[in-house]
Order: sequence, then structure tokens, then C-alpha cells
Amino acid sequence: MNSRQFARDLVRHSHEWAQQYVVQEYGRIRASLRSEGLIEWCRSFMWREYMVGVHVTAKTLALLPDADQDLKLMLTTQIVEEWKHSQIFAERARALGGDGDLKHYAPTPGDWELYHWTYRWTHPVELATALQCTGEVMITTMFRLLVDPRRVLLDGETAEAIRSQILRDDDQALQSLVDPETARSLREEVIPDEGQHIRFGRLILERHATTDALQQMALRVQQEKMAALRTSHGQLVDRVLSLEG
Ligand SMILES: [Fe+2]
Ligand SMILES: [Fe+2]
Repeated sequence: MNSRQFARDLVRHSHEWAQQYVVQEYGRIRASLRSEGLIEWCRSFMWREYMVGVHVTAKTLALLPDADQDLKLMLTTQIVEEWKHSQIFAERARALGGDGDLKHYAPTPGDWELYHWTYRWTHPVELATALQCTGEVMITTMFRLLVDPRRVLLDGETAEAIRSQILRDDDQALQSLVDPETARSLREEVIPDEGQHIRFGRLILERHATTDALQQMALRVQQEKMAALRTSHGQLVDRVLSLEG
């Protein structure tokens, strides 16, 4: 398949999967997070934006050939933005009364699971598939759900099932699942960047996933990454819900 079509299909598959997965996993959060659970969620993202966002992007940048200066420049932008996201989540953790110092954060097994299955790859096609084209598609859908559950729950193919399953007798599920300032940060300072990052990953695949072997490799990585996302976010939601009490 030509690489342009391949890249578009792969990202579209991530979107379809993310829509279904995020609703199922994060739909377990039925009321706005307001205490320890929200702080822990912010602290985990302080770490993930740095360890996964910055480190994996830097690895990809270093592995791309000299001819790809345009892609390297895009990835440099992404590194700066991922560091900004890490600081935004640190600031939210502090404002909510938690510890926003990255050096104090003890990563959970779920955090490491996510890092490992994103960073371990050695080809730019694998790294871009794992990070931008799969992981960032999922977290963008998830951020949108936290900011405005209605928007995610009420569009898409699963809307009817969700309406009866989650929204029945549950007015709170219709409101933002995070506090107004966290919602504003996500909406204005994080989500728009993530849309660009998904595009950067797609451009890497368009240029480099040019053979059948490389495309098969990317599809395998996508499956591995989805499995890691399930484990990691399953544990994170469990932890958040247990801390909210
Ligand atoms: Fe990010
Ligand atoms: Fe990103």
C-alpha cells in the first residue's frame, strides 16, 4: 500500500479504537474528580508528558536521517510542548494541594508499562506509531472526555449504547470531570498541541513506512501499544477512583 494511505488508515484505526476504549475505561468516572484522585492523575501526567512525551520524541529525532530536517524541526517543537504539558500538570497538582515536583514522583508499574512500550522501539516508524499515531490519539480523546463528557459520549458510533449505559439517571456524568482550571488548561494549552503531534507522527509514517515489511512492523507496534495503554490506563483509573473514595 502506498505509505500515505497506510499512515492515514493506521491513524484512523487508532481513532476508532480510542473512541471505544476511552468511553469504556474513563466512563467509569461518574462524577467530577475533586480531591486526591485528581491530584494523582495530574502527577502521573506530569511524569508521562516528560518521560514519554519528551524522551520518546527526542529518541525519534536522533534516529531520523539528516535529510529529514523538516521532521526534526517538528519534533523539536513537540519536545518543547511536551515539557510545557508536564509543567502544566505539575502546576495543577500544586494548585490542588499536591506535590508538583517531578523529582519526588514515584512512577507506578502502569506508568512504567506505558514508558517501556513506547520508548523500547528502535526504528522511527515504530516510535511514531507507538507515540504519536496511537498513544497521543488515545490521550487526546481522553482529555476531551474529561473536559466535556457530552461531546465525546454523544458523538460517534457508540453514542446510543453510552447514553443508556452511562448517562441514565446520572446528571453529574454530563458535566466536566475535572475542575474548571484543569479543564481550561487541557482545552487551551494541551489538546491543540496534541492534534499537531498526531500529524507529525503521520508525516513520519508517510515518509518512512514505505515497504510492506515496515508497514507490518508498524501494525504490530500499534497492537502492542494498545495493550500497554489498556493496562496503564486501567490501573490509573482504578487508582484515581480508589483515592477519590
Ligand atoms: Fe503532551
Ligand atoms: Fe503530545
